[in-house]
Amino acid sequence: MTSDTPTSPAAPDGPGPAPEHGVSRKTLLRAAVAAGAAVPLIATGSIALARDAARTSAGRTLPPTPFCDDGDDPTPDQMEGPYFKPNSPLRTDLVPAGAPGTRLTVSGYVFGRNCVPLSGVLLDFWQADDAGAYDMAGYRFRGHQFTGATGAFTLRTIVPGLYPGRTRHIHVKAQAPGEPVLTTQLYFPGEPRNSTDALFDPALLMNVRGAGGGKEATFDFVLDVDGGPGPDPTDPPTEPPGGTWTTGRAYTAGDRVTYGGSAYLCLQAHTSMAGWEPPHVPALWRREP
Ligand SMILES: [Fe+2]
Repeated sequence: MTSDTPTSPAAPDGPGPAPEHGVSRKTLLRAAVAAGAAVPLIATGSIALARDAARTSAGRTLPPTPFCDDGDDPTPDQMEGPYFKPNSPLRTDLVPAGAPGTRLTVSGYVFGRNCVPLSGVLLDFWQADDAGAYDMAGYRFRGHQFTGATGAFTLRTIVPGLYPGRTRHIHVKAQAPGEPVLTTQLYFPGEPRNSTDALFDPALLMNVRGAGGGKEATFDFVLDVDGGPGPDPTDPPTEPPGGTWTTGRAYTAGDRVTYGGSAYLCLQAHTSMAGWEPPHVPALWRREP
């Protein structure tokens, strides 16, 4: 999506019980894999949601345990905007030393459509600093990471500042191995500008709460992919390698390989794996002329 024109009408975030409170179906996908628990996939492919339930204060009636079994809608896409830069550093903490701002930790999981947590998903975040400015010269408040075996991610950053014309938001690109890139934005509940920003989508609201002097937020992505167990390392490759690219190798930005008769330039440091063949991951490899 290249247009600067908002692609969705202004979403109402005033009336109605759900959006600003952040209790969307996506929120209900939050799995009980917090605290290092095993991924609680049930035989039906459902995921019991213990994390939110555990936060319910004592004495309140717990709601029925929700399940992720209804083919939840994938996380909607949003325009990239003018401030994305490739080649962000591999890091989970985006805050430069001494940078002002309210500390924010965003954590969550990445799921496929069928609620299976997705590991190895590339998450590339970028946002404005406390003053609402994007660093176009360097990489302040930019960084990418990969989900772990449970599909979990944690981002350490600050609450982004406001800039003219937009409500508060964090940009992100998410890409499961060998799958298309999802470009979207995450929003904060209770922001006055949510009701006037035509890009705002309540489906992209994080849950945010105060934590000490900072904030903690959660958000779970649902990518429009099958979310199967992933490529079996014993499976033969889907394409003959026919080049210098190999799996299990640590590539750094600037490395050059060949694959399938074409040359590719590495854009971001990563360790290669099956499913991340250069033609499949444009975030990692750029085809050279
Ligand atoms: Fe932005």
